[in-house]
Amino acid sequence: MVAKPRSRCCCCSVFIGVIILIAIIIAVIFTIRHRSNHSDDDGSNVKNYANALKIAMQFFDIQKSGKLENNEISWRGDSGLKDGSEASIDLSKGLYDAGDHMKFGFPMAFTATVLSWSILEYGDQMASLNLLDHAKDSLKWTTDFLINAHPSPNVLYIQVGDPVTDHKCWDRPETMTRKRTLTKIDTKTPGTEVAAETAAAMAAASLVFKESDTKYSSTLLKHAKQLFDFADNNRGSYSVNIPEVQSYYNSTGYGDELLWAASWLYHATEDQTYLDFVSENGEEFGNFGSPSWFSWDNKLPGTHILLSRLTFFKKGLSGSKGLQGFKETAEAVMCGLIPSSPTATSSRTDGGLIWVSEWNALQHPVSSAFLATLYSDYMLTSGVKELSCSDQSFKPSDLRKFARSQVHMHINLVSYFSS
Ligand SMILES: *[C@@H]1O[C@H](CO)[C@@H](O)[C@H](O)[C@H]1NC(C)=O
Repeated sequence: MVAKPRSRCCCCSVFIGVIILIAIIIAVIFTIRHRSNHSDDDGSNVKNYANALKIAMQFFDIQKSGKLENNEISWRGDSGLKDGSEASIDLSKGLYDAGDHMKFGFPMAFTATVLSWSILEYGDQMASLNLLDHAKDSLKWTTDFLINAHPSPNVLYIQVGDPVTDHKCWDRPETMTRKRTLTKIDTKTPGTEVAAETAAAMAAASLVFKESDTKYSSTLLKHAKQLFDFADNNRGSYSVNIPEVQSYYNSTGYGDELLWAASWLYHATEDQTYLDFVSENGEEFGNFGSPSWFSWDNKLPGTHILLSRLTFFKKGLSGSKGLQGFKETAEAVMCGLIPSSPTATSSRTDGGLIWVSEWNALQHPVSSAFLATLYSDYMLTSGVKELSCSDQSFKPSDLRKFARSQVHMHINLVSYFSS
């Protein structure tokens, strides 16, 4: 695993780090509750994780745009109420990106996908801390925006606000008066990665709401299918077609988002077409054998792990040829993370924190820890005892230990800078 050259910019991806942190904390709580024989996971740790999760969840509330409901953040109020009016649609909801008042569709959709994944896998643990409804409300706040941003099958609004003017204004969203420019993709100006990521978000969220709100769930699924077709049938990168976005969330390609979206659609529909899509396009887009870093730009490691999930749990798919490359690459990603593995990544600090990029440096350790926890749970749940890395084998507990180390360093860093 070699770090990609860092992108030039990005004021903004703080957001993603926090979201994934939430997921991983949840995952770690899960780990601890189920493995209380670990001597380093005593009761006070569980309490610390629970606190961290609660605080991390507030982040969504703080970032909310629109007419707020049950707002508990004293310094936040209604804002962005006319967003979308230029196109006669309601884009008032959704989440601001970071310290600015931009709504960037590409990372916002990724946030919704990962939040959905953590609710799907660890919702029970959220419920035990009374945070499940909170998480689902925050997810719905985002998917409500995404639904409205997709007014017809081949049109998706991907940005609200003009980053150049926005970043010059040090004001509150509640009092901003500048023009809220809209940016969209359509068949003339396609944006495969952002359409596909939005499809992934909606497919994943449709699973979250499947039981609690059937109607909402099928609306999400309808949008997800349309967006996937739009993305696939009109291939082109949004950051090539709309070069202005390059200074913010530049995409390095759309193949990963197509596979990721198809994987989520398969989980949501069990429609064979989507499974065929990943099998047929894996060689071209899956970067088999080359571990990489899960992030708002690169969905491949997430896709590898999500598709391995099928080989662990879905009858008839354990030896599936079409999924083999994904499964092997998922293993390679995991082997890269375990510090004592012969193929361990060297992208770490001396203290052992994953270190890939100076921009939002914590996004990679937390996303890696999230995937490691998921994978170790898949192994444990399906009774797979060992992971082979070259000539050595490792246990699910090695992955958990890695995940815990990243979260501990993360929490320590955050406490250090906020004390
Ligand atoms: C955006 O990414 C593309 C593809 O990786 C690259 O060629 C381009 O230079 C990047 N643009 C910026 C502004 O970093």
